Amino acid sequence: MMIRDAPLASLFVLLTTLILLSLPSTNGIRYFGHLEDSILQNIDVTTVYDDVVVINRVPVYEIRGGSQAEPDEAFKRILRDLQKTYKIISLPPTTLPLPFTSFHSKFLSSSSPFSFPKFHENLEDKNVESTEWTDGPSMSRVMKFLHPIGKNPVGPSETRVTKTQTLLQTPTHLTLTSTSQIHDVPSSSSFLVRDVLLLRPLSDSSCEVRVFLNVEWSSFSVIKSIVNKSTERDVGKWWGKWVEDVLEFLK
Ligand SMILES: *[C@@H]1O[C@H](CO)[C@@H](O)[C@H](O)[C@H]1NC(C)=O
Repeated sequence: MMIRDAPLASLFVLLTTLILLSLPSTNGIRYFGHLEDSILQNIDVTTVYDDVVVINRVPVYEIRGGSQAEPDEAFKRILRDLQKTYKIISLPPTTLPLPFTSFHSKFLSSSSPFSFPKFHENLEDKNVESTEWTDGPSMSRVMKFLHPIGKNPVGPSETRVTKTQTLLQTPTHLTLTSTSQIHDVPSSSSFLVRDVLLLRPLSDSSCEVRVFLNVEWSSFSVIKSIVNKSTERDVGKWWGKWVEDVLEFLK
């Protein structure tokens, strides 16, 4: 019996090896088969989070298990656009134990117990002011505050920031886009920091949040890459803290 099966076993091993060799290389990443092969062949995978691959720090592709439903087309399109435009990515997707429809009242309305102006204040910003949201399909508001800029031996120890937020909510997703003009740092008139919070429902009692970040340059500066890096670090840390505190708040 065992002797007769041995050739079959080695044939099986050979076939498996051939199949494995013919799969696209994924640099040791668990590959569930939902990424397009053509994408995989042209990328250099650099960082792996739980269920997300960050590729050359540019797009984020989600690897989904077979059981999860595909997000709807509109959401996918938005995600693709954000991934294309927002080159400085700061946060992987996070699940919040909160119904999608409750996010606004908990975090966005001016009477929210955990509003953005309050969060700024609780961290380290001073003189935080905010207008009310405007009415309309796309709502907006303007926040102003003083933000500390650390241990510079020269120059100001804080900067004025004007942050304009616009909010768009549909049944399938919500985007909160924040555009910050940082007034008192070198090259400050040449760039804006723009970040987008993207939220979508996952189930009746949970939603998923992602944050995208970009530095938009309008003119030449020799310190572009320094500003890019420090923005990535600081704003990434800021959003990381926001997610951490939100999760704590929702417990
Ligand atoms: C800074 O970041 C922006 C936005 O991602 C990018 O377009 C630009 O090329 C970057 N510049 C440098 C010098 O890193």
